[in-house]
Amino acid sequence: MNPPATPAHVAIIMDGNGRWARQRMMPRQAGHRAGVRAARAIVETCARRGIRHLTLFAFSSENWRRPQGEVGALMRLFLEALEREVDELHANGVQLRFIGERRELSAELQARMRSAEERTRANERLVLVIALAYGGRWDIGQAARQLAAEAAAGTLDPAAIDDATVAGRLALAGLPEPDLLIRTGGEHRLSNFLLWQLAYAELWFTDCLWPDFGEAELDRALARYAAVERRFGQTSEQLQPAAGEESC
Ligand code: IPE
Ligand code: IPE
Ligand code: MG
Repeated sequence: MNPPATPAHVAIIMDGNGRWARQRMMPRQAGHRAGVRAARAIVETCARRGIRHLTLFAFSSENWRRPQGEVGALMRLFLEALEREVDELHANGVQLRFIGERRELSAELQARMRSAEERTRANERLVLVIALAYGGRWDIGQAARQLAAEAAAGTLDPAAIDDATVAGRLALAGLPEPDLLIRTGGEHRLSNFLLWQLAYAELWFTDCLWPDFGEAELDRALARYAAVERRFGQTSEQLQPAAGEESC
């Protein structure tokens, strides 16, 4: 059986803010501000499309290497956006979660993230995961540390570690794996996003710069997703047995 036509989980690498701003002779920060507006709109569109989980890559573990001024501006923007948006997200039934190395973020931002998570914990319309100071290698590393600690404590048998044991310690534990990955901004790479969790995601790359990404672009990606056959290693014949024929 092919999975449903609507992905349960969409993950997005929101790239191209800087180029969007440069095209308009504006500072990169203006691109990031426009990027926040696009993110806000896409959350609502995804909820309307019946997508239950959305993970947005907002800041990578490698983005700390950007000029200090840009990193500072981004951190202020995240703080402002949280202050401004949480009420409405909460009112719209959105559950907020954050993944990434939080200890690298300011105490104020961490506190706001925690309070947004606590406040929206019971919401069920859409789970919105924001990846902040996130890296796929960091994620696998922290899962490995947990597993090693459990094994050392005698609560986990190393021989029993399988895919599910590892997945259960990763940042998206408990959520379905992303079915569809979208990257805007024209680059065809993962940039250390969800390395483990994207193993079987459908990949959609578009040249559209993130601040320009909206409903029409999302629908193109969703249409492609709905049309594709996800085989997970099996053959077409196994997935679509001829009428009257038993699948074996
Ligand atoms: C993505 O846009 C936002 C972050 C990485 C924080 P960029 O800032 O990477 O935009 P480009 O790629 O320079 O256009
Ligand atoms: C990926 O974009 C990270 C986010 C969108 C948050 P980058 O612009 O940082 O990726 P690279 O450096 O071009 O790979
Ligand atoms: Mg970029």
